[in-house]
Amino acid sequence: MALQSPPDFSDPKIIRDPYRAFAWMRTHDPVHWCEHHKAWLLTRFGDVNAAQVDAKRYSSNRMRQLADAQLSKAKRAVLEPFVEKASRWMYSLDGKEHEAGRKVLGKAFSPSAIEALGDAIQQIVDDQLTQLSPRPEMMVELFNKIPAFILAYLFHIPAEDALKIRNWTDAIIVCMVGSTDPAYGPKQALQAIEEMYGYFSRLIGQRRRAPGNDLVSQVIVAADKSGMSEADGLAQLAFVLVAATTTSADQLGIILFYLLEKPTRWAQVRDDPELIDVAIEEALRICPAGQLSHRVLTEDVVLHGKTMRKGELVFLMRAAANRDPARFARPDQFDLKRTKLDHLAFGRGPHFCMGRLLFKLEAKILFTTLLRRFPHMHLIKGRPPLWRGNSLQFRGLSRIQVDLAPSADAITRCFSAAPWEKKGGYCRALRAGNLIMTSGTVAFDEQGKPFAEDDVYGQTWRCLEIIETALKQLGTDRTRVVATRMYTTDMELWRKILKAHKKFFNNCEPTTMLLCVKALIAPQFLIEIEAQAVVGQL
Ligand code: HEM
Repeated sequence: MALQSPPDFSDPKIIRDPYRAFAWMRTHDPVHWCEHHKAWLLTRFGDVNAAQVDAKRYSSNRMRQLADAQLSKAKRAVLEPFVEKASRWMYSLDGKEHEAGRKVLGKAFSPSAIEALGDAIQQIVDDQLTQLSPRPEMMVELFNKIPAFILAYLFHIPAEDALKIRNWTDAIIVCMVGSTDPAYGPKQALQAIEEMYGYFSRLIGQRRRAPGNDLVSQVIVAADKSGMSEADGLAQLAFVLVAATTTSADQLGIILFYLLEKPTRWAQVRDDPELIDVAIEEALRICPAGQLSHRVLTEDVVLHGKTMRKGELVFLMRAAANRDPARFARPDQFDLKRTKLDHLAFGRGPHFCMGRLLFKLEAKILFTTLLRRFPHMHLIKGRPPLWRGNSLQFRGLSRIQVDLAPSADAITRCFSAAPWEKKGGYCRALRAGNLIMTSGTVAFDEQGKPFAEDDVYGQTWRCLEIIETALKQLGTDRTRVVATRMYTTDMELWRKILKAHKKFFNNCEPTTMLLCVKALIAPQFLIEIEAQAVVGQL
């Protein structure tokens, strides 16, 4: 139902579901003065787009105005150290200072640098997927962790510190345009930014003494070269975390929401993985995790008959612009056939998001792996996803619980990781839910001949290496295998097979040994037996 009057943005119900309010503003009041935020709200695609490329009239130096707009004079002093720090982020800078901030990060976020992160991201995803419970709440068990662990990898910091990052960035960003949630007020934001800056100053000190090839060391070198102060270098590093952690986690949740919203959609993308890219872009369009950005006017601007005054705050409502029917046909529909995908989720102009390629890569790897590993995943009846209601700027879910559905036909088989063995499948791995099994006999070489025929140990070792690659393809590793089966036709060979197996599996013997298999049973048949045995225990 359409909204009849100007929306009240102090109402958490409107924040939980803001799209009717955005539609009202787009149609009736595209330059809307919001008394609650003390800001002008622009909602049409053309206006938002034009403002974000017009850095001359729409300045990004915004932190003080944001604090002034939401706090009384008496309370502003509390937030002053926060405002000072956040005003040094590239996000809050204009012109040459802004360019310098982007430059110190430029190399680390180039397309080739991001592409090179693919294997590391896959490893992080695989590790996390093996730890999911059968009915996980995905924000807590997965999406809050993945971006934080990727950033920990980039910064070379311990994984256990990564989750502190999510807590700090939540506290920092949720308070930026004012929060209705007492758990996310100015005090929490100040405490978080101080803890975070303390952590990263110590880290910079360590990396100065012992440089590496991580992002922190790279920024130190680039900042020194350009004459940037250490405090400004630190501000840019800290901002990467602020910009990347909460937004990415929330956007991953939003992508999952749209993929599971209609029961057939998950299957549609699963059966045609080429749709994953469109699904990611369409989720960014229909529901960007960062719903708006702010600017401060450097001169009076007249738009649609309204005069916005110099010094006033303007909110560029990207989420509203992304559903402007003047730009996108049937804008409220999540459409996997959409070809026009030039949304504003990552902004445009001088402040265009530096992390967009990283986000798209992590989303693609994560959803490709989820779709392959859990082809029947679905929402749980009676446990609908819940949207947060505490920030107009940062949209996300507080809960999205799913059933991973590891049913019999959700068994993932990997007959062999060596392509020339695909038919024989003698060195293979299989996953049913969280249970992983392997079996192996003879490893072949690329010409289809048994590998190192005279060397039983070498032959078995090769077989186990192929199994290891198969395990990787299933998103797991040898430490998670619960059953291994080795076959031979000759008992004489067993001692050496056993030796290789024990070395590979950390002193563990095979759980099953099959002897005298003169004619190998069809591999599908063997896999079926294994699969049935396992499914019975799930
Ligand atoms: C889905 C996830 C993300 C969304 C929706 C998003 C969105 C945005 C938007 C809208 C801006 C422009 C802000 C403005 O114009 O005021 C921005 C800037 C930025 N983003 Fe992202 N971002 C995401 C993920 C990331 C990631 C993963 C990183 C880095 C690892 C990152 C780094 C940055 C940086 C450094 C800027 C500042 C650019 C500047 O001020 O020149 N973002 N982001």
